[in-house]
Amino acid sequence: MNFLHTLSDSKNWIINHKDQLEINWSEKDIELHLNKETSFNIYLLDQTNVTGALIGHFLYQDHKVSEFEILHIAVLPKFRNQGLGRMILEELEKQLKSTGKSVKIFLEASAVNKFAIKLYEKLGYKAYNERKNYYGSNPINPSSLQDAILFAKTLNASS
Ligand SMILES: CC(C)(COP(=O)(O)OP(=O)(O)OC[C@H]1O[C@@H](n2cnc3c(N)ncnc32)[C@H](O)[C@@H]1OP(=O)(O)O)[C@@H](O)C(=O)NCCC(=O)NCCS
Repeated sequence: MNFLHTLSDSKNWIINHKDQLEINWSEKDIELHLNKETSFNIYLLDQTNVTGALIGHFLYQDHKVSEFEILHIAVLPKFRNQGLGRMILEELEKQLKSTGKSVKIFLEASAVNKFAIKLYEKLGYKAYNERKNYYGSNPINPSSLQDAILFAKTLNASS
């Protein structure tokens, strides 16, 4: 397994796998994100494939602390439930810790996304807020509204 921050063509890889990754960004959104100075992404590769990705950005940084937001994390469907999602999040934490700063990580998940929530809770993310009916609809039941759960985890500089 290998982790990279960028691919030879990150934009096209994300665009080509958008549906499988369950990313609902437009091509423009993807390009804007990849060009932002604050963006920080992790791609997980096995010998031959990119198997998953984390897309995130720094919200705030000073010399002692920073805040980071995971905008999306996804593993391609045929590689799921094999521990890769956990590996990507652990790699993120390793890299954020190596900055020597305290880092607060934020993310949000749909309340119906049981696997993602289970993964975050197992890694010590704590729910701190809920947004009722935050997500407009889902493809299976377009009329349904889904609540968002907001999670956070703090990595202390010394830990
Ligand atoms: C959420 C996601 C990234 C998890 O990645 P993954 O590689 O499948 O996750 P892991 O294999 O590391 O599993 C981590 C934990 O999640 C749970 N889990 C994940 N998939 C599961 C499944 N199919 N059945 C039961 N539990 C599952 C398990 O509790 C597992 O922990 P364990 O192995 O200690 O039991 C992946 O399901 C995904 O890409 N989903 C689509 C995109 C998405 O919803 N992203 C999150 C947006 S908030």
